Amino acid sequence: MRIPLICLGLAGTLLACTEVSMPEPDEGQQLFAANCAQCHGPTGQGDGPWASSFSPKPTDLTKLTRDGVFPRARVLSVIDGYDRTGLPGKEMPEFGLLLEGDTVPVDVGDGVLTPTPRPLAALMAYLESIQE
Ligand code: HEC
Repeated sequence: MRIPLICLGLAGTLLACTEVSMPEPDEGQQLFAANCAQCHGPTGQGDGPWASSFSPKPTDLTKLTRDGVFPRARVLSVIDGYDRTGLPGKEMPEFGLLLEGDTVPVDVGDGVLTPTPRPLAALMAYLESIQE
């Protein structure tokens, strides 16, 4: 009798986790409109009103997926400024401070759930949803 009970508890916990885990893309879309659209454009295509003053240009964020994989870990670290290795320029602002707050568990591709600030996870969900 014990094992099914434990499983139930575990399933319940997992369910609860799923409910609070990934924010929906539209939550991220609002953050994107407020913080990113000036440069990356209203739909992320790199054509915001400020875009022309940058060299290299703000990236077209609808084309981040490579070989069918959205590079979650890379996108998160570019946004929060943790790792910019390989970016051609230094114009992309860091959003580390803006993105503090409650964390949600996010699988960044290695199967391990990493606590991630909710706004950052929301932005990632939005960017993932706009991939071509
Ligand atoms: C002030 C202009 C500006 C703002 C605001 C801005 N970015 Fe950027 N971003 C850039 C530029 C320019 C690049 C091009 C890369 C570089 O600088 O080398 C870039 C690159 C990126 C990349 C890297 C893509 C790659 O090559 O892997 C991501 C992801 C990104 N931005 C996401 C965001 C998000 C999300 C926001 C809002 C939280 C944001 N950016 C706000 C200018 C901006």
